[in-house]
Amino acid sequence: MSSSFAPNLLRDRVALVTGAGQGLGKAIAAALAAAGAKTIVNDVAIGPAEACVAGLRSVGGDAEASIFDVSDSEAVHAAVAGIIERHGRLDIVVNNAGIGDFVEFDLITPEKWRRMLDVHLTGAFNCSHAVFPHMKERRSGSILNISSVAGKRGDFIGNAHYTAAKAGIVGLTKSLAMHAAPHGVRVNALAPGLVATELTEGMSEAMRATTLARIPAGRLGSPEEIASVALFLVSDAASYIVGETVSVNGGSYMD
Ligand SMILES: NC(=O)c1ccc[n+]([C@@H]2O[C@H](COP(=O)([O-])OP(=O)(O)OC[C@H]3O[C@@H](n4cnc5c(N)ncnc54)[C@H](O)[C@@H]3O)[C@@H](O)[C@H]2O)c1
Repeated sequence: MSSSFAPNLLRDRVALVTGAGQGLGKAIAAALAAAGAKTIVNDVAIGPAEACVAGLRSVGGDAEASIFDVSDSEAVHAAVAGIIERHGRLDIVVNNAGIGDFVEFDLITPEKWRRMLDVHLTGAFNCSHAVFPHMKERRSGSILNISSVAGKRGDFIGNAHYTAAKAGIVGLTKSLAMHAAPHGVRVNALAPGLVATELTEGMSEAMRATTLARIPAGRLGSPEEIASVALFLVSDAASYIVGETVSVNGGSYMD
């Protein structure tokens, strides 16, 4: 198994990627495994997580599944403790798990609002909170939170629950990064633009066309184009990048 740019970049590292049964998480897990990391594939859905693990193993990757809901603090803490016990370390956590819900502002119910915040923002908090004491003790570690172009720019149709969760991740990233860096732990975020995954299949044709028209690159991104940047950010190649939310969006928002 080889990585596109650095086959041994993550040798001996243990990495957890949440929501890795499909989409961006699956591509990120593949990039990390290809770079030599023992890769823990989390998802709430057992089938996709196990299929992802089987795929990684079939090309020589070292992977295992870990099924939990990132919004469930107790389950997250138990799973992270188990990973550390089994493998002696957890070097990398990619907080990627997410849900899509492309609705106009008026249609956001309190339940939709809560679930969106719970999965994206509380999920990233839970996993970071569970792993940080371990990373701090080892004076080493890298946490990467998946935000979105929507979290930086807002979103055109007003799905403010998603946008607020993703903007919250930018704040969580900055604040934890400031706290963690003196302990040798790096925290960053990655803000993808529109990428072709199951999540974006939920967009209406009209919304997809409007969004596409706003991408200077003229096309959607691929999961692999996100994964290669994620790999860079969690690796020592990015050792002096701290608290950034890196845009990978075909030019759809430049900051
Ligand atoms: N696809 C895009 O265009 C895009 C753009 C910007 C940001 N993002 C973000 O990237 C991340 C991945 O998006 P995607 O397009 O691959 O989505 P996706 O829907 O294809 O995959 C998300 C995965 O997360 C899992 N998941 C959902 N809730 C979970 C939970 N509570 N606990 C554990 N796992 C859970 C799902 O089962 C699924 O396997 C999300 O955070 C999303 O907001 C995606």
